[in-house]
Amino acid sequence: MPTAGAFVLLVVLCVTLGEDVRLKYKAATKPVRLFTEEELRRYDGTEEGQPIYMAVKGVVFDVTKGKEFYGKNAPYNALVGKDSTRAVAKMSLDPADLTSDTAGLTEEQLKSLNNIFEGTYKAKYPIVGYTAARILNRDGSPNEDFKPEDQPHFQIKDEF
Ligand code: HEM
Repeated sequence: MPTAGAFVLLVVLCVTLGEDVRLKYKAATKPVRLFTEEELRRYDGTEEGQPIYMAVKGVVFDVTKGKEFYGKNAPYNALVGKDSTRAVAKMSLDPADLTSDTAGLTEEQLKSLNNIFEGTYKAKYPIVGYTAARILNRDGSPNEDFKPEDQPHFQIKDEF
């Protein structure tokens, strides 16, 4: 007959092992929302009361709280509803720069882009998802190198 002590030990062991198995099979990362260009365009600030989204470096931010910058008729409305990486890097509102294309940007512009990405967007606005270009390869297969951005100071409700 096992003693009560041995029985308790057995229960603790089972629970611990069970926990281990559960942790091992937990998904490595949380699911993230993917935005196509068309989907992102819906959040361009034209509809009053709707959220406003903008992507920088393929990361989609909810910039609704910056409505005075990004809302309808606001000075930087052209940047929203799309990936405006190039415009942010060059500090330009030229329609030709309203794109995710970083080809030909100078070292200085790339540095400025990273500073604004970290210091303004990631610090100020919650991440709501990623553009298809950031998550997928050109052939539509998942990009194995994709890693979600770290943003522990915001608690976003799960979409799934
Ligand atoms: C003469 C030119 C410009 C001046 C004087 C200017 C000035 C300002 C000022 C005063 C703010 C507000 C900062 C705050 O209250 O937090 C601001 C924000 C901003 N500016 Fe400009 N700006 C100029 C040109 C541009 C251009 C060409 C772009 C193109 C990308 C741009 C992009 C932005 C963005 C995106 C924000 C908002 C950042 C946020 O969400 O906090 N600015 N600007």
